[in-house]
Amino acid sequence: MHQDLDQFSVTQAVLEQMANTPDARLKQIMESLVKHAHAFARDVDLKPEEWLAGIAFLTQVGQACTPSRQETILLSDTLGFSALVNILAANRQQAKATDPSLLGPFYRAAAPRKQLGDSIAERPDVEELVFYGQVRDGAGRGVPQAEVTVWQTDAHGFYDMQLHGEDKMDHRAMFTTDADGHFHFRTVRPLGYYIPMDGPVGGMIKAQQRHGCRPAHIHFLISAEGHQELVTSLYFSDDQYIGSDVVFGVSRSLIIAPQADPNAPIPGLEAIHYDFTLAPSGGNGAGRVGADPSQLMKA
Ligand code: BEZ
Ligand code: FE
Repeated sequence: MHQDLDQFSVTQAVLEQMANTPDARLKQIMESLVKHAHAFARDVDLKPEEWLAGIAFLTQVGQACTPSRQETILLSDTLGFSALVNILAANRQQAKATDPSLLGPFYRAAAPRKQLGDSIAERPDVEELVFYGQVRDGAGRGVPQAEVTVWQTDAHGFYDMQLHGEDKMDHRAMFTTDADGHFHFRTVRPLGYYIPMDGPVGGMIKAQQRHGCRPAHIHFLISAEGHQELVTSLYFSDDQYIGSDVVFGVSRSLIIAPQADPNAPIPGLEAIHYDFTLAPSGGNGAGRVGADPSQLMKA
């Protein structure tokens, strides 16, 4: 039967059509999405030309995605949505673990494997730092044979693929922790940088008069048998953007500062010491907020 729909009953009509969705979680997500999206349109009294501008923007976001670029994740990141999903995942975890942070678009699955103590920079052109730490379980015991993937910009604020395309990897590596869960490597201090600003998300950032920068950081992806994967980053305390990261990835517990350290495994270099705690696997899987863009295209 034909109904005359008004600005409220249209929401109900959509919910009724979706009511037989057999997948209970899909039903819950879609019902809530429709309710909130309709409430948003009513809240701002959305005009047809504004709706069309939004459609054009989302189309451009999709079209900007390639095997090496994920503009949709960048949109999620810059709207704080990725950070929110990370926070919700961490809240769900029973056991305490190191705070997560964004995977970001510069992660690549197969970083070069290196030995403990190696430099992740092929040709360091500034004084190096030594990074050392232990991967621990919730009881504080070292986790042997944990896989630690590290990636960062060079000393000038560029990721390898921004300088050399997809073929050459630099300032990234995979390490395996020793029998006590310890690992260390040499690196250069990374610099903060602009997120990719030449696409539709960059256009949005400029329209909002945001600076578009991330504070200097080192990314970590740590996995070990029997534990939940940890995706996080450590942020340099003295970066001017430490309090205004454009993608909201910084938490207090992830802030570091290199310093002289007599206990560091390589003497004579400034050191960063940070120990990571992994949650046990099982239960509410944390999952990754982000993906290697090429893997996402295949999926
Ligand atoms: C990154 O840290 O690599 C990153 C994260 C989110 C958006 C852009 C860059
Ligand atoms: Fe980064």
